[in-house]
Amino acid sequence: MVTISTKTPLIFISFCILLFSIIDQTLVESKKFKCTSNIQQCKSIVEYISPNTTTITTIQSLFNVENLTDILGVNNLPLSTPSTYTVQSRQPIKIPISCLCSNGTGKSNKVPVYKIVKDDGLYHIAFEIFSGLIVFQEIQEANNISDANKILVGQELWIPLPCSCDEVDGERVVHYGFVVPPRSTVAGIAAQYNTTQDVLLRLNDLASANDLKAEDVIDVPLKACASSISENSPDYPLLVSNGTYALTAQGCVRCKCDAANNYTLQCEPSQFNSSVQRNCSPLQCQGSGSLFIGNSTSSGCDRATCSYSGYNRNGTILTTLEQSTCPAPGQGNNASKFNFNIWRMSFIIIAFHLMLFCIQFT
Ligand SMILES: *[C@@H]1O[C@H](CO)[C@@H](O)[C@H](O)[C@H]1NC(C)=O
Ligand SMILES: *[C@@H]1O[C@H](CO)[C@@H](O)[C@H](O)[C@H]1NC(C)=O
Ligand SMILES: *[C@@H]1O[C@H](CO)[C@@H](O)[C@H](O)[C@H]1NC(C)=O
Ligand SMILES: *[C@@H]1O[C@H](CO)[C@@H](O)[C@H](O)[C@H]1NC(C)=O
Ligand SMILES: *[C@@H]1O[C@H](CO)[C@@H](O)[C@H](O)[C@H]1NC(C)=O
Ligand SMILES: *[C@@H]1O[C@H](CO)[C@@H](O)[C@H](O)[C@H]1NC(C)=O
Ligand SMILES: *[C@@H]1O[C@H](CO)[C@@H](O)[C@H](O)[C@H]1NC(C)=O
Ligand SMILES: *[C@@H]1O[C@H](CO)[C@@H](O)[C@H](O)[C@H]1NC(C)=O
Ligand SMILES: *[C@@H]1O[C@H](CO)[C@@H](O)[C@H](O)[C@H]1NC(C)=O
Ligand SMILES: *[C@@H]1O[C@H](CO)[C@@H](O)[C@H](O)[C@H]1NC(C)=O
Repeated sequence: MVTISTKTPLIFISFCILLFSIIDQTLVESKKFKCTSNIQQCKSIVEYISPNTTTITTIQSLFNVENLTDILGVNNLPLSTPSTYTVQSRQPIKIPISCLCSNGTGKSNKVPVYKIVKDDGLYHIAFEIFSGLIVFQEIQEANNISDANKILVGQELWIPLPCSCDEVDGERVVHYGFVVPPRSTVAGIAAQYNTTQDVLLRLNDLASANDLKAEDVIDVPLKACASSISENSPDYPLLVSNGTYALTAQGCVRCKCDAANNYTLQCEPSQFNSSVQRNCSPLQCQGSGSLFIGNSTSSGCDRATCSYSGYNRNGTILTTLEQSTCPAPGQGNNASKFNFNIWRMSFIIIAFHLMLFCIQFT
């Protein structure tokens, strides 16, 4: 029960302000991304803005990122970056998260797990520690906490960060989630990340560009490079966006994406000397002699490229030798000839059946 005396207007006003701020917080929109594709797991990225000056390993452990190299790759920092690398307060840094889609929504898959310390509150954890990437009600719901004020020191909370694995307009993308800074516009964000206003409005369920508010979490699709990685490979779909790289195949292979290379993933042996490097299985294409992953040979217009195509759980690295030969006059390369042959075969078969059909009725 609260009784308000009209003789103390100041207290009354304070009370109203408090009430409105509580209502404002409870009406705050959830920060979830749509995820309806049949690819249920992938890597996604969130932007983190640390409230204080800290090190990259502190951030790594806050987000439970298993390998530092994953953070280095999405930020395009050199592999030699030390774990003591300083991140300034308010300096944005990209965090790779493993995303799981279910029920039409993407959420970081069981990570990060945050352990409550003395004087923590859910609002502080959501708004400050995780820089507003989530609202406290979502932490509350995900952890089945009935009273937000009753949390215990040492209690572990799952922080379900927004993410997605959906393709956008038929293209593989890395979904990048970040908190909208004040005075941003949809057009400005679209231009900055080489996408369109229309795509941003659609992905984020915004009716118009005026509906964008500071502190919203926005889903920005970054076009990813195409690769020849097999669907059965544990790293499928390896989503790498322009200007970034990723280590894969248990650290043995490094793949980078460059828009200038027609958005085709370029992979090569990582030659990364550290404790994370395992004994790598042969990184040569079978039957190609000396071609390693990423190598190609050409003589005239004949060309052979050894491409990375995944790995399997026992550590075997898979490769494909992509060969193209000189186009015969008036024809495409081997690949299109092959396709052409399939079409011609189908056509002949269909024509044959039509003929049989006609014969039956004459
Ligand atoms: C920075 O803030 C985080 C989270 O609030 C805290 O865990 C960490 O100890 C702080 N680091 C420094 C150097 O103050
Ligand atoms: C999916 O959504 C339905 C209805 O919205 C709900 O009953 C169900 O518990 C949800 N499942 C999961 C795994 O969240
Ligand atoms: C959430 O908590 C309530 C009450 O403590 C309990 O009955 C319910 O089973 C819990 N749900 C989940 C999904 O843990
Ligand atoms: C993205 O950048 C490429 C190359 O700069 C450009 O050709 C393309 O039109 C851009 N796409 C959008 C949607 O702006
Ligand atoms: C790709 O990344 C490079 C380097 O980060 C940048 O200069 C270029 O503008 C980007 N291109 C597109 C199309 O995003
Ligand atoms: C981390 O690196 C190790 C060794 O390179 C590798 O086996 C493991 O799969 C990596 N973990 C993730 C989540 O990428
Ligand atoms: C770029 O890649 C696309 C699909 O991967 C392909 O169809 C196209 O021919 C390529 N263009 C060039 C110039 O290589
Ligand atoms: C990696 O380590 C081997 C020996 O363990 C050394 O010969 C080689 O030069 C190192 N490569 C790099 C790039 O540091
Ligand atoms: C093959 O690739 C490796 C590693 O990327 C490189 O060191 C080597 O020089 C390349 N060999 C040829 C023949 O291109
Ligand atoms: C690894 O698995 C593949 C099939 O998945 C098999 O062909 C290969 O022999 C295995 N390699 C080892 C070293 O067990």
